[in-house]
Amino acid sequence: MQRTTKPATKPWDGYWNSSRLSSSSDINPTGIADHIAHDWADFFAKIKNGASILDICTGNGVVPLIALKAAKEKHKKVSITGIDQANIKPAHNITPERALLREVNFMGGVDVSTLPFKNNSFDMVTSQYGLEYTNWRKTIAELTRILKHGGVGRFVIHASDGHIIKHNVPKIKLYETVITAKLFEKTEQAMLSAWRVDNRVLANNHKNRAIVKKHLMVFNSTLSRLQKKFTGMDQRQEFNALFSILTQALTHRNRFQGESHITQWVKGNKQEFTQRRLRLIELQAAAKDKKDISKILTVMRGLGLEVSSSSELTMPGTDSLIGYAITIKKPNTN
Ligand SMILES: C[S@@+](CC[C@H](N)C(=O)[O-])C[C@H]1O[C@@H](n2cnc3c(N)ncnc32)[C@H](O)[C@@H]1O
Repeated sequence: MQRTTKPATKPWDGYWNSSRLSSSSDINPTGIADHIAHDWADFFAKIKNGASILDICTGNGVVPLIALKAAKEKHKKVSITGIDQANIKPAHNITPERALLREVNFMGGVDVSTLPFKNNSFDMVTSQYGLEYTNWRKTIAELTRILKHGGVGRFVIHASDGHIIKHNVPKIKLYETVITAKLFEKTEQAMLSAWRVDNRVLANNHKNRAIVKKHLMVFNSTLSRLQKKFTGMDQRQEFNALFSILTQALTHRNRFQGESHITQWVKGNKQEFTQRRLRLIELQAAAKDKKDISKILTVMRGLGLEVSSSSELTMPGTDSLIGYAITIKKPNTN
């Protein structure tokens, strides 16, 4: 059965304590992650020998990994630091890339608005879907402080009028509806009563079988009532995935070792679902439109940074917006 370990309390702690390499794992429609990676590889192609790179809001280190691979391809030695306020352990979680991730200095529990680094200490700063989650004015000021003169930066920012928001924000309503309908509690009730009768904790008599039947009916009718509510493709896909997890667990309830195992399992799944909702609410609040981007550029210029480029990122061959990309340079001192 799915995980029954103690669920994490913060939305990103639990998210990164998994094999997900990036936040693209469940919010980005197929193909976006590869496309974004390609643009990062282009940016890191100019990496210099001995460069120091800081990736903020790094998650499980998707951007540091691209930087490291780009450096190795060109036989350059670099030092990479990845920070996040979540409790991250990329080298522990991403087993296929463990050896490479061990070369990165990851620091969890670090808020980007007060970075524990000296002035002028990095050659490159990067952020993929991170800056906009933070108090971006403070963050830009901090990044300007720690970037060396002549140093460069690149930021990829969620677009509020883009593809990712369109595909994900409607799921917030789904999560709320499922939680309000107490689907997880009804699943637990049905699983527990059926498990007790199956395992003779309760006698297999007419009265107890009637209770099980009633709980199963409540569970099934809640599922079918909810199923009718979700008509959009993204919502339907998400609901069907949950439907399948819950019905499978109920069908195979005798694989659970006891009542507390069932209770923990349901609790873990409910928490995961609740945290997905919180992450999407954060995503919706974080995403920026063109006006916000121009404010960001004004703040950057105000801090003395040169804006080398600011562009819309679209899926190749389409005008489907997947974010904004900004590159900057901290001018050399004369
Ligand atoms: C959408 S995820 C992006 C992660 C990663 N860059 C990627 O593309 O997979 C946003 C991350 O920003 C982190 N974050 C949000 N606010 C932060 C802050 N003030 N300081 C440091 N990290 C922060 C969250 O913990 C989360 O891991």
